Amino acid sequence: MKAVQILGSQNDHRIILSDTLPRPTPTGQQVLIKIHAAGITADEVIWPELYASSNRVPGHDISGTVDALGPKYSGPLSVGQRVYAMIDADAPQGGQSEYAIAMPNEIAIKPSSISHAEAAALPIPALTAWEAIFKRANLDKGSKILVTGASGAVGVMLVQMAKKLLNAEVIGLASSSNHAMLAELGADQVLDYNDPDWHNKVQGVDAVFDTVGGETLTKTWNTVNGTGIIVTVGDPAPAWAFDRGQPEELQNHPEVRWLHFIVSPDGDTLSKVASLIDDGTLKPIPVVAFEVEEAVEAWKFAAQRGRKGKAVIKFVAEK
Ligand SMILES: NC(=O)c1ccc[n+]([C@@H]2O[C@H](COP(=O)([O-])OP(=O)(O)OC[C@H]3O[C@@H](n4cnc5c(N)ncnc54)[C@H](OP(=O)(O)O)[C@@H]3O)[C@@H](O)[C@H]2O)c1
Repeated sequence: MKAVQILGSQNDHRIILSDTLPRPTPTGQQVLIKIHAAGITADEVIWPELYASSNRVPGHDISGTVDALGPKYSGPLSVGQRVYAMIDADAPQGGQSEYAIAMPNEIAIKPSSISHAEAAALPIPALTAWEAIFKRANLDKGSKILVTGASGAVGVMLVQMAKKLLNAEVIGLASSSNHAMLAELGADQVLDYNDPDWHNKVQGVDAVFDTVGGETLTKTWNTVNGTGIIVTVGDPAPAWAFDRGQPEELQNHPEVRWLHFIVSPDGDTLSKVASLIDDGTLKPIPVVAFEVEEAVEAWKFAAQRGRKGKAVIKFVAEK
């Protein structure tokens, strides 16, 4: 079957489209999915799990149809259903292939109002935003929230969920060309990260949701209120992530809570997200879809700064 593979090492990798891998067979409770589209998270090339996998097929965000069920599968899915999923980062094979295995708890019925390409862009961004807001930050309705990388895939989900589901006052940090789009999605205020002084233009936020990291993350300490929280998912992770210490900024902000997390698959949350997409509460992430033969180009596009839209690879042509 056709599949994207990442060869080489984290520091010296090469992305290819191969046609040599066999179609996987579902065992136990596994579900075999015929992939219609798979999303690209370009930073996956720096994730060590990819290099530990046997066949180096990347991709965790997928949309497709159930093709076969493992002999011990006993859940509600049936062959032919349209589904989407986040496949675990530790799975033996990723989703950028014509067929991929997913576990039952990773899968939800796909939103019916959007294409497979749009659905394939959603799982990691939507699950990351949901986990940050509802499982990590524990915020009151009407909280004041700063989202960095607000125009990115995770950012547009954060902005919309914070506004629509938490009635938050939302401040989005993004380049100015994305400000109108963010206002449409519900941002109350937009700031441009090209303004070196942006962090002095917002004060007293209850929560920072950072998807950028580095200097941007450092500057957010200036914006958060004394007992607020900073949640970051940006890659590379800060030096203090993974229990490796504490942020230096705590010296001046001793009661601010801070955390970094890695998103996990969660089919139940994807079901809720599908309903919110289908009832119009959440808008899908803008996508740029590539044919499977253009997979290498798709990865190049995904790695570009300032691109508009999340890259997805279509394994089945869609009208
Ligand atoms: N830990 C986890 O579990 C987890 C989960 C999902 C994603 N991530 C990571 O989170 C990050 C964001 O993911 P994504 O899919 O949303 O990426 P994305 O779609 O590429 O968006 C990144 C956004 O960051 C903005 N940006 C770039 N440089 C910036 C700067 N110097 N200051 C402020 N904003 C800047 C860009 O804004 P403009 O377009 O306006 O320039 C862009 O929209 C990635 O590093 C990804 O690997 C981690």
